[in-house]
Amino acid sequence: MKVLGVVGSPRKDGNCDVLVKEFLDAADADTEYIFLNHKKLFGCNACMACENGDCVIDDDGNDIIKSLLDADVLVFATPIYYGQMSAQAKAFVDRFYQISRNENKSLEGKKVVTIFTQAQPENVFGDYIDSFKVMPFGYMGMEVIGNVTAMGTSSKGDKEELAKYIDEVKSIASKL
Ligand SMILES: Cc1cc2nc3c(=O)[nH]c(=O)nc-3n(C[C@H](O)[C@H](O)[C@H](O)COP(=O)(O)O)c2cc1C
Repeated sequence: MKVLGVVGSPRKDGNCDVLVKEFLDAADADTEYIFLNHKKLFGCNACMACENGDCVIDDDGNDIIKSLLDADVLVFATPIYYGQMSAQAKAFVDRFYQISRNENKSLEGKKVVTIFTQAQPENVFGDYIDSFKVMPFGYMGMEVIGNVTAMGTSSKGDKEELAKYIDEVKSIASKL
């Protein structure tokens, strides 16, 4: 089993980063870690060249997509920015759309664990977070098998503030 952790926060050692690393450490699996903000990753061109092959954008996108295609489980982490995912996370999501356009590639049957971090101490973004089961993951044939929403987190990677969420991610990871 291979688990791919993708961090959509630009904060190295921030809350998403800590939670993804804790998850990967706790998983009894081969793991790969991608910190999107350290990659060159543009948005989708909507050129549909991907219908006939790899994406034509000259950046790290094709390497990231290859890692995703190789994984059995994706751990997708993003901070909530203005009630939505970060720009880095959205670029990743928009770029894996290419897989749905190409009959030789598929994410069907892959599992996803989502991790969201937010300053808000209450579950005000629950509907948005739930919607990921349908879009983008359900649409791509992937199944969200768990979610951790780290609420009331604003300090950068404060492990005391994150303690109960670290326990939650470890618990999901240990059951894979
Ligand atoms: C541009 C920006 C927008 C944000 N918007 C929200 C928001 O709408 N709701 C919220 O609860 N927190 C918001 N936050 C706070 C982050 O979601 C929060 O600090 C989170 O824990 C950061 O996680 P990270 O350390 O992984 O980056 C925002 C932060 C930034 C920088």
